[in-house]
Amino acid sequence: MLVLGIESSCDETGVALVESSGTGVPVLRSHALHSQIEMHQAYGGVVPELASRDHIRRVLPLAQQVFAEAGRMLSQVDVVAYTRGPGLAGALLVGAGVACALGAALGKPVLGVHHLEGHLLSPFLSADPPQFPFVALLVSGGHTQLMRVDGVGRYEMLGETIDDAAGEAFDKSAKLMGLGYPGGPALSRLAQQGDPKAFKLPRPLLHSGNLDFSFAGLKTAVMTQAKKLGEELPARKADLAASTEAAIVEVLLKKSMTALKETGLTRLVVAGGVGANGLLREQLNAACARARVRVHYPELHLCTDNGAMIAMAAAMRLDAHVQTATTEYAFDVKPRWPLDQLT
Ligand code: KG4
Ligand code: ZN
Repeated sequence: MLVLGIESSCDETGVALVESSGTGVPVLRSHALHSQIEMHQAYGGVVPELASRDHIRRVLPLAQQVFAEAGRMLSQVDVVAYTRGPGLAGALLVGAGVACALGAALGKPVLGVHHLEGHLLSPFLSADPPQFPFVALLVSGGHTQLMRVDGVGRYEMLGETIDDAAGEAFDKSAKLMGLGYPGGPALSRLAQQGDPKAFKLPRPLLHSGNLDFSFAGLKTAVMTQAKKLGEELPARKADLAASTEAAIVEVLLKKSMTALKETGLTRLVVAGGVGANGLLREQLNAACARARVRVHYPELHLCTDNGAMIAMAAAMRLDAHVQTATTEYAFDVKPRWPLDQLT
């Protein structure tokens, strides 16, 4: 079964081909990505209308690229998968529209994928794929969740953010330090030259006794600190970046280890853009080694949004018989769509 996957939920257009034999883990044949980061940079964040227009421009040329690279033809596709949500409505509609038009033209079924399920299952594309069950730490620009995962489609929410996501904390802190968009990677790079103990920043909900997160207060504390520094800020920026990163990472680390302890599970999967963070990986690796827990990450280039994870999630759902693809081409998208409401 050859699955074409299309991702267009935010600011990356991703297209990929995944092949599944029905048993074992599906195999990635090719994938192509166009990032809109440069286009949105001038505005300091994603401009939804520009994002949609750019997805329209990019998606079919990227599709041609993945077919050429895989040595396959469009007519060989068995299922067309696309991101149905969550994400920007206009951006999602581009991928959904193209996927359903291709499906209708080919007479092949389509399948709408949950973007976060894509992230969650993306470590299965790595050389060291996980095994069920596991605890998943899902840390993207819009979501921060800890989940118990017993199989494809079997997700139990253990805790989530009650306000900002971890990625948002990185992005907003970076923005007020003048580091541009997206802020996470830039803040992390700058942090390497700073002292993580330079500023005492809050670790929200660290001792809350549950697995929920909150990062809005941290962002405010960073803002207050930046204002206090005033003219000194440029000279102390690396210290502030390092202190911010240390605070975010400590909370993510502690809550993940608590989730593992409470569930008694011995595998951790880390997915979503913030999963690319070097300090988070370093500290999780050390803590998991001490706790005898196996930790799995997606390949670094598949941490942020991509089409491969969408094709992969579709193939795994079909193989596990939790969903069938449909030839009902009257599509809709779900800009807001909690993962635990996925059936
Ligand atoms: O999963 P993703 O690509 O998009 C969403 O679905 O949201 O995640 C993007 C988020 C952004 O907030 C970005 O700043 C953050 O991931 N990010 C990082 C790093 N790379 C990406 N945050 C910290 N360190 C990084 N190395
Ligand atoms: Zn994402």
